Amino acid sequence: MDYKKYIAEKLNIEGVSSEEIASFITPTPSQDMGDYALPCFRFAKVLRKPPVVIAEDLKANFVLDDTITEVKAVNGYLNFTVNRAGFSLKTIQTILEEGETYGACNIGNGKTVCIDYSSINIAKPFHIGHLSTTVLGSSLYKIFNFLGYNAVGINHLGDYGTQFGKLIYAYKAWGDKETLQKDGLKELTRLYVKFHDEAESHPEMEDEARAYFKKIEENDPEALELFNWFKNLTLAETEKIYDLLQVKFDSYAGESFYNDKMQPVIDELKQKNLLTESDGAMVVDLSAYDMPPCIILRSDGASLYATRDLAAAYYRKNTYDFDKCLYVVAYQQNLHFKQIFKVLELLGKPWHEDMVHVAYGMVSLEEGSMSTRRGKVVWLEDVIAKCIEKCSAVINEKNPNLENKEETAKAVGVGAVIFGALSNNKIKDIVFSYDRVLNFDGETGPYVQYTGARCYGVLAKSDIDYTSFVLPEKLESCEYDLIAHLSTFPQTVKASAEKLEPCFITRYAIDLAKLYNKFYFECKILTAENEELVKFRLALTKAVRVTIENALSLLGIDAPTRM
Ligand code: ARG
Repeated sequence: MDYKKYIAEKLNIEGVSSEEIASFITPTPSQDMGDYALPCFRFAKVLRKPPVVIAEDLKANFVLDDTITEVKAVNGYLNFTVNRAGFSLKTIQTILEEGETYGACNIGNGKTVCIDYSSINIAKPFHIGHLSTTVLGSSLYKIFNFLGYNAVGINHLGDYGTQFGKLIYAYKAWGDKETLQKDGLKELTRLYVKFHDEAESHPEMEDEARAYFKKIEENDPEALELFNWFKNLTLAETEKIYDLLQVKFDSYAGESFYNDKMQPVIDELKQKNLLTESDGAMVVDLSAYDMPPCIILRSDGASLYATRDLAAAYYRKNTYDFDKCLYVVAYQQNLHFKQIFKVLELLGKPWHEDMVHVAYGMVSLEEGSMSTRRGKVVWLEDVIAKCIEKCSAVINEKNPNLENKEETAKAVGVGAVIFGALSNNKIKDIVFSYDRVLNFDGETGPYVQYTGARCYGVLAKSDIDYTSFVLPEKLESCEYDLIAHLSTFPQTVKASAEKLEPCFITRYAIDLAKLYNKFYFECKILTAENEELVKFRLALTKAVRVTIENALSLLGIDAPTRM
């Protein structure tokens, strides 16, 4: 329950919005002053009265209820006391009743959000740089669905461009079927790198590669077959990583999908006099908006990344009629998206306002921790495998008799990677460190999972039916703090969707785990003084377990029962 909001909405102060009032309310330093305080000097200017008088007036008009049981005016402050018992009972009951839907709602009903994420380039390594877009986008997808939106996950594959001509050249020159079948993406990468090495001294290879690419475009059967083979190889391998990370898509319509969908956009640009010629190329001049021109057609008539994104935007609007269209793409492409959105605006599409570039920072690996390198890239697959391996070692040491050791190591290793990538505001650059993300006592995925397993363990040790629990006469403050935090999960999920920040959920989960562990060490659960108290604390433990599961699942992370 958001008490600040609740109180603010009950107060009527002319000329001040309830959001503003809520922002002035703070928890009191000690409970004998009540639970929340509102400093009335904030309104002295608008109301032209001294704070002490304002406090008295507001108090006189405030109607107490089941939620707010007392209000006092003290030295220009209004102090509110909340009904802790009633609120605590309701919070725990709600969580136990709602279970895996606790935190969900229907604010998004009838609304569609397209989310473009991961959007890998075919035949290129799936490397650590793709981690953020993949897990950020996937988490937003889950969050929006949880809030009742119709989320459409789109993997806008980079499956178009001269690099595919280069690959065909390289495959024909140095590749063979068996090796490619066996080594897949690694072999494609080797061929690609070899092409570049050789082309340095044989520039004519570039022309041949271009000729092969042209063949793909012209649907030449042999070229197309090779291209599709490369594409399927890449997808089959990345699919394994998507499965591990619990990432799903509704559409894999990539760049080549728009081959035959660009002409209407180009025609419309012409018809609206937006296209101008520049060195033989066709561009949309954006100098009036302090941006370089957006190139639509190269001088040889070929389309570009931007042309395809414009066609994709039209296609998405027509197909999904989205309310929002998100692009989870690194901040290096800030200009690209600014240009695309501006061109849509110039084309007179009112929905250009619904397009959002969800920019995020870079991920690099801590110096020295790059033990697995193939060439210069750090493959995501290797990073995940290494995390799983390290978790295995920890589990073998801490809990050698655990059943499903392998599965648990997988859940924890993968969870550590995802949680690590979602721990900070998305725009921050991050340096990935194995030790940091795997620290079972740090602010990490394993720490949250461990706490979830602790709850499970407590519950498994007792067969008392706690569903009919009642509140103890007096709540310990660690209990109340825990319940108060549990109650804010639904608003946290909403805020994370609003600000497009899954890190609100990782932070929430860390705080929840810390509060539960504090409670666990300060209060006896199974050996509490009387059975009523045991029941209450079991119910509270169950509520924490449910909420940890829900929070982790919005991030794509499993909650093991034992670790
Ligand atoms: N494939 C691109 C890259 O790796 C990202 C595509 C992002 N999505 C888009 N609609 N432009 O840079």
